Amino acid sequence: MKSKDFLSISDLTSESIRSLVSRATAMKEEGWSSLLSGKILVLLFEKPSLRTRVSFEVAMRQLGGQSLYLSPEEVQLGKRESIPDAARVLSRYASAVAIRTFAQETLEIFANNADIPVINALSDLEHPCQAIADILTIYEHKETLEDLTIGFIGDGNNTAHSLMLAAGLCGIDFRIASPKGYRVQDEILKTAQQYAADNQSTVMATEDPRQAVTAVDVVYTDVWTSMGQEAEAKQRRKAFASYQVDSKLLALAKPDAILMHPLPAHHGEEIAENLIYSPQSVVFDQAENRMHAQKAILADILGGSEILLPDFR
Ligand code: CP
Ligand code: NVA
Repeated sequence: MKSKDFLSISDLTSESIRSLVSRATAMKEEGWSSLLSGKILVLLFEKPSLRTRVSFEVAMRQLGGQSLYLSPEEVQLGKRESIPDAARVLSRYASAVAIRTFAQETLEIFANNADIPVINALSDLEHPCQAIADILTIYEHKETLEDLTIGFIGDGNNTAHSLMLAAGLCGIDFRIASPKGYRVQDEILKTAQQYAADNQSTVMATEDPRQAVTAVDVVYTDVWTSMGQEAEAKQRRKAFASYQVDSKLLALAKPDAILMHPLPAHHGEEIAENLIYSPQSVVFDQAENRMHAQKAILADILGGSEILLPDFR
């Protein structure tokens, strides 16, 4: 990693993202160790979580370290206490902090005032830990990261931004179909397109779901209404009505395409009822891989051990 903070996929390089995937694969085999003995990770969350919280806490325990969870009511960043002060205080107690927040800016202010590494556990703009787990899952199921295409259907949200950037860095083709008004941010799209050009792949955005999924290797979707957008749910259900991933849309992808979703899923909205239980779905492998991917991230940030470059294709 460029620095020891992990706030965005853009903190990684093409090499370091592949190294993390390689390291996660090895750590999945290895299981428990004492690599992070004596280290403490604080989880400071302003939004709910199942996977991110539990996978980080279990990852720390499996690596011999410890974790401590602070719920949305407890700290009240920027209300009860200023973000810089909270960063300075936590730097005196913990080895690193993983923050789930409404604004990427909160992460940046916190990181600028902390002496310890800061990890983005989801913000309005990005979900980088999810993207590492996603690339790991794709690599496991496709046994390569070469000559692959991801088709993302739905909101140009945090999950889409991080996966799009990661795909560009990994040389994976990426197409995203979103309705007008819900596209990925232009600046992030441009960055991902630049990464893709540097790695001999392409990234494109369209309004046509069929164009996004035709002949792809991976079909990916996420909720139409992210945490914090609940007031827009009705309007979003209307805007996204023709963007549901169902068996008809999935059939346009390659016959061996895998279906992915970061979860939690809204069955009957972005994904047809029961589709995540179909043979093409890898969503529960993907959820498990959050833990393995985060072990690699934590090892890199806190373990002091150099990640070896992978020799996979
Ligand atoms: N995928 C994911 O981040 O899940 P949680 O919101 O439950 O952590
Ligand atoms: N886009 C979703 C992802 C949840 C893991 C959200 O931000 O709520």
